[in-house]
Amino acid sequence: MSRAVSVSLQKGGVGKTTLAINLADALAARGNRVLLVDLDQQGNATEGVGFKHAYENATDHVGSVLTDDEPIDVREVVRSRDRFDLLPAHVDLDSVEDRIRNSTFGMLWVRRRIVEPLLGEAYDYVVIDSPPSLGPLSDAALIGAQNVVVPLLMSEPSVSGFERMWEHQITPIRNEMELELLAIVPNQLEGDNEERRIIGDLEESPFAGYLPTFARSAHFDDPNSPGPGIRKRIAFKRAWREGKTLREHDPDNDMLVRLDELAAAVERGGVETAPEADGELRV
Ligand SMILES: Nc1ncnc2c1ncn2[C@@H]1O[C@H](COP(=O)(O)OP(=O)(O)OP(=O)(O)O)[C@@H](O)[C@H]1O
Ligand SMILES: [Mg+2]
Repeated sequence: MSRAVSVSLQKGGVGKTTLAINLADALAARGNRVLLVDLDQQGNATEGVGFKHAYENATDHVGSVLTDDEPIDVREVVRSRDRFDLLPAHVDLDSVEDRIRNSTFGMLWVRRRIVEPLLGEAYDYVVIDSPPSLGPLSDAALIGAQNVVVPLLMSEPSVSGFERMWEHQITPIRNEMELELLAIVPNQLEGDNEERRIIGDLEESPFAGYLPTFARSAHFDDPNSPGPGIRKRIAFKRAWREGKTLREHDPDNDMLVRLDELAAAVERGGVETAPEADGELRV
């Protein structure tokens, strides 16, 4: 089994990079060969797994692959790391967006030059960290991966950002080709009233079937649960600062089991359907 997946939402700071890094780590911990691709010019994924030097100094990076002008073979740019590999971003990625926009087939570059040559060959899973914008690069990531995981803060702007993305980006692409929403992942939950309301709303919505078990409201009533979703844990920030995954930084963290469930959903091609929901709810 092999699959590429983009972690996307056109909202800043919702946890795309955090989830991409730790999903790559969780898939690798399950015995898969994994490549993490940093498609964001901020380079947070690159820096967050310990390659700040590559982000600032490397001559070759993901931008050297996504160009009309003598593109480099992706295999020459991949960096090895413990457990999973990295295709690093670079400070000078601004031009990539324009190059994709201005080239007839730019929208297919991620797919043709990164995913297709590597997936099922060198890697079982390719995990893409997307930029927080609705632009050619994030379109190219979705078209390249054909699977998407959406992190969501329990706040109105985050939810409406997802609704806009569903309507203006995912749906138009799905009209032309396969693109699966694998999971919606509520992130940074810390026990305020909004999270109960928004998780309840999601469970009543056509998107109920995309919530992993760990993100369902049953966790509010389970005394042994810290509550649903990926909880706010300072260890995520500390791990990033050290250039480590959560597992490398804190092997006993209680969120690792949830990241493992997310990795299992990515392997399966979707979350396990909620008991109260059936396939009908999937949109
Ligand atoms: N569950 C969590 N608990 C605590 N901190 C978190 C959690 N998830 C993310 N963070 C922190 O929140 C900040 C934003 O997260 P992250 O960079 O992953 O978001 P992003 O969606 O990739 O942002 P951008 O849109 O800028 O790329 C980071 O400092 C990260 O360490
Ligand atoms: Mg990011």
